[in-house]
Amino acid sequence: MKEIKETKVFSQSEVQEAAKLLQEGRLVAFPTETVYGLGANALDPQAVEKIFAAKGRPADNPLIVHIANQNKLEELISSELSKQAQKLIDEFWPGPLTLVLPKASKVPKITTGGLETVAVRMPKHPLAQQLIEEAQVPLAAPSANLSGRPSPTIAQHVMTDLAGRISGVVDGGQTGIGVESTVLDLSQGVPTLLRPGGVTYEQLKETLKRVIIDPAVEAKIDNEAQQALSPGMKYKHYAPEAKVVLIEGAQTEIVAKIKELIRGEEGKIGVMATTESSHQYQNAIVKEMGSRNNLKQISMSIFKLLREFDQLGVDKIFIEGLSQSGLGLAIMNRLRKAAGYNIIKV
Ligand code: TXA
Ligand code: MG
Repeated sequence: MKEIKETKVFSQSEVQEAAKLLQEGRLVAFPTETVYGLGANALDPQAVEKIFAAKGRPADNPLIVHIANQNKLEELISSELSKQAQKLIDEFWPGPLTLVLPKASKVPKITTGGLETVAVRMPKHPLAQQLIEEAQVPLAAPSANLSGRPSPTIAQHVMTDLAGRISGVVDGGQTGIGVESTVLDLSQGVPTLLRPGGVTYEQLKETLKRVIIDPAVEAKIDNEAQQALSPGMKYKHYAPEAKVVLIEGAQTEIVAKIKELIRGEEGKIGVMATTESSHQYQNAIVKEMGSRNNLKQISMSIFKLLREFDQLGVDKIFIEGLSQSGLGLAIMNRLRKAAGYNIIKV
């Protein structure tokens, strides 16, 4: 990483320049409709290695390969597309759905964390599409944060974590969805949801006859065989510096519990609350996630708020739990991980 003197911030009109760096095997972060990604040429093992180094990412955590055109999928996978896969692609691409499929031999093992499968997605964000097209290579791109930190939803988050470690970032303002893509494994038997995200479980069920939810989505998994299926799920994730506690249950009881917890604390306390109950808390720094009736608003704000609490130096953060329907499943999955599964049920 020593060779990088400065991380250049590219405006929307400088995508071509950013694409040139990618062609030279360098790292450039870019906006997608979910979160910012840290891109490198997915077919160049040396470029991909830099991603793991810059993020401090464990080598067995595989990367998602991003394409801008469906024709590019063929060269990345080893089998014919199933009818199911084609249906999903027709329905949800471009968009926040990542498909795990058997990989072609030209995809380096370092990109897939040593696995025989590859995760592929076609982002919907015009700048992401433009960058991939100009670079003329598929881009491996994990979220552009230091490993274990909340995913970046603005270019400044990328700079906070990675300035001096990557060659550039394309600034496209705030990302739309705010939580990452849905990861669906199609490589064996029944389609399995490995990570809930921008495309909801309910939406998948409308398109597919059967979808299994991987147990790691809703609870901490300690068993190694299960961890092997979704390697990304076992690591510490989205965690701010402060201790995080998630309170789950009925809304009135959640509020009462958090009030009680605040009374028992001495340090600097943060509360991540919904608009409906944010006025309820005293003696705490309260940040509004959005309305309970607007999960889109909440998904856009959770990572940003976790970072803001860090900047304020709070010791503990209490978070109001939400319903798990629709985008709620993805939001709760991220909040549980941010809390390190430190959950109080009321
Ligand atoms: O929305 C997103 O998906 C963002 C943007 C930048 O596209 N990317 C992203 O990448 O979230 P990352 O690396 O932070 O998360 C990728 C997830 C991890 O949980 C990883 O384990 C899983 O996808 N994954 C990747 N390849 C896989 C594979 N072959 N089999 C199973 N899981 C895989
Ligand atoms: Mg990530």
